[in-house]
Amino acid sequence: MADKSYERLLEGNRAWSKAKSASDPDFFDNLTRGQKPDYLWIGCSDSRVPANEITQTLSGEIFVHRNVANLVVHTDVNLLSVLQYAVEVLEVKHVIVCGHYGCGGITAAMDNRDYGLVDIWLANIREVYLRHRVELDAITDPTARTNRLTELNVIEQVRNLAKSSIVQRAWRQRGLALHGWVYGFNNGIITELDCVIDELEDLEPVFRFNR
Ligand code: CO
Repeated sequence: MADKSYERLLEGNRAWSKAKSASDPDFFDNLTRGQKPDYLWIGCSDSRVPANEITQTLSGEIFVHRNVANLVVHTDVNLLSVLQYAVEVLEVKHVIVCGHYGCGGITAAMDNRDYGLVDIWLANIREVYLRHRVELDAITDPTARTNRLTELNVIEQVRNLAKSSIVQRAWRQRGLALHGWVYGFNNGIITELDCVIDELEDLEPVFRFNR
């Protein structure tokens, strides 16, 4: 007997569509006219971190890319395509990397188990650990250490965004702010990390492209 639990998703969709039309008769008409989101969200694929729900935003407000542990990898054509389209075509004003405490990707990167293919992806987090090894190794509480790696991982991904020619071109032409946030599903609160980057001067010279 095949599992039919998915049917509740379709039922939920129909109920949502009906309620949405009832409360805002123009809602779907507006969506068909196109999108002009101000924000690109790069978050974790984790089912507990839905971008719109936790920020109380609607369809059309946030352009979203999600992957395991919210990584910005310069060889990831998927992420780079999302970034390029969001920055150059949609002209978003803010790019937000949002990690979350209790991230399975971060935890997996810190143990030495073999998880298969995903380990190639998790190696990026292990590189973050290595870069901050002195600070992290000094934290004796395992949860506190994992939480700090979660924050440092977000900060490094924001820096990876800044290193891209897409972001640097946007800085020269108009302005764009990069943000690093961490969400906690223990209390539902997003914490802003002190890592906003909104100009080339925030980046080490070796990463700066000439105009
Ligand atoms: Co996660």
